[in-house]
Amino acid sequence: MFKIQHAEFLAPGIKRFIIEAPRIAHKHKAGQFVILRLNEHGERIPITIEHSDPATGTIRIVVQAVGKTTHQLNSLQTGDGILDVVGPLGKPSEIEKYGTVVVMGGGVGTAVAYPTAAALKRAGNRVISIFGARTKELVIMERELREVSDALMITTDDGSYADKGFVTDKLRQLIDNGTRIDLVLAVGPIPMMRAVAEMTRKERIRTIVSLNPIMIDGTGMCGGCRVLIDGKSEFACVDGPEFDAHRVDFAVLVQRNSMYRAAEQRAMEEYLRATQPQLDTVQAGQTGACAVQGDGR
Ligand code: FAD
Ligand code: NAD
Ligand code: FES
Repeated sequence: MFKIQHAEFLAPGIKRFIIEAPRIAHKHKAGQFVILRLNEHGERIPITIEHSDPATGTIRIVVQAVGKTTHQLNSLQTGDGILDVVGPLGKPSEIEKYGTVVVMGGGVGTAVAYPTAAALKRAGNRVISIFGARTKELVIMERELREVSDALMITTDDGSYADKGFVTDKLRQLIDNGTRIDLVLAVGPIPMMRAVAEMTRKERIRTIVSLNPIMIDGTGMCGGCRVLIDGKSEFACVDGPEFDAHRVDFAVLVQRNSMYRAAEQRAMEEYLRATQPQLDTVQAGQTGACAVQGDGR
């Protein structure tokens, strides 16, 4: 059992956990993730390690509740335990001195991008961070990002905080202003990563995305996380999760991520009925701040 040393909500539906996992904390590098299983009957879910501290033997994760398992996880509190935490998995981010790097995070993708932004800064890069959320209360980790960024831009879709618009609007501005950009890293919803890839392809700016296919074992054995890169099958858990954005077949990613949509919605509805028996009917997408996504993300 892996003990939760601390748990706190960063925003509605988004919770940060500090977990005692000394061996993982010692080995972790930016860009890697863990696969969690809450209990014997639980499914395995991949979650990025947002920070690790070998001195205290802890790792930090940030979880957005979107379906049954992430809702169950986010109901856990300080002092509770998680049955399995396997990792660190995946290839670490390629950290080099590139020059000027634009790090982009959409929603909870911000927490995934943060450790790589920090590592790029430590490697001597000029880091321009662009982070976006739907609305003010969903803006997370602003203080941490400010600490590792030479410049920080924040957008909200509704304009309730910082600048109104999408993160891609800010990237467009940087490009149009003639800012030299040596690398872009984008992590977030698939439509965002695809939009960034299309924009930078035209400008010939090297771009990395962190892909989020469905994963099961995390070791390259089950094939669940198969993605198409330059027309060839690769497994995001062992060959990624970071890939050259201009080589990714996003249409296949969207299609594969929606394969289990009906079963995921059923599991969520059963979970809500069990935990909130007063709910007779649950409309998918009306589960509070953490609605089940409806577009293959
Ligand atoms: P499900 O019932 O399985 O799904 C609910 C909705 O989420 C559906 O719309 C479904 O299409 C979508 N979904 C399912 N699996 C994924 C997935 N792997 N990625 C994205 N959407 C998915 N989430 C975080 O909150 N924090 C993280 O740090 C984080 N890191 C990740 C790192 C990697 C390498 C990957 C592959 C995914 C990461 N995710 C992260 C996404 C997280 O794994 C999923 O949200 C989770 O598996 C959903 O499980 P569920 O049972 O709650 O929802
Ligand atoms: P969201 O839908 O609220 O979007 C967050 C931000 O992304 C928006 O504010 C906007 O700035 C940008 N964005 C969204 N759609 C865009 C588009 N079409 N064009 C340009 N920019 C766009 O995100 P959320 O609900 O907070 O969810 C976060 C997403 O991140 C989920 O879809 C989840 O699957 C994904 N995720 C990805 C990874 C990964 O490794 N790539 C890991 C965890 C979660
Ligand atoms: Fe099974 Fe990647 S999760 S092969």
